[in-house]
Amino acid sequence: MAVSKFQEQSKKTAASVVNELVANFGVLYVKLHQYHWYVQGPDFFRLHEKFEELYNETSAFSDTFAERLIAIGEKPFSTLREYLDHASISEKPYDEKIRAEDMVRNLIEDYRTMGSLALQGVKLASEENDAVTEDMLIGYKENIDKTIWMLEAFIGNDV
Ligand SMILES: [Fe+2]
Repeated sequence: MAVSKFQEQSKKTAASVVNELVANFGVLYVKLHQYHWYVQGPDFFRLHEKFEELYNETSAFSDTFAERLIAIGEKPFSTLREYLDHASISEKPYDEKIRAEDMVRNLIEDYRTMGSLALQGVKLASEENDAVTEDMLIGYKENIDKTIWMLEAFIGNDV
């Protein structure tokens, strides 16, 4: 019997949260490319490079977490459709200009969303006695906190 989205959400597990992260990585990876290509202004060179660094990192995290899911007998999302259906962050076509600073603000929001997911996963993994997944998620959350700090610093904000 097919599991409805509601049932799926009501039974969150560490694995389902990690899979939600995988979906988000797919969307974030594409979005960072969009910003990498379209960013303009005096910060072009710095942000063009930073966004590339971030999409490469996102791709690596996606691979690491998807492989963790396989290793524990789960099935990571692996199509663009699944990524879009299950991601909690969103994308949009570049049909109007986005100021460089707004790109950074949007990313901060996305990273915060993913940070909350990661924390949810840490809690569930701990309850499930899955120390390895818990550790991986804590490491990922550490990375997110650092990225958010740097992006906030770029636009002149405290965290
Ligand atoms: Fe490039």
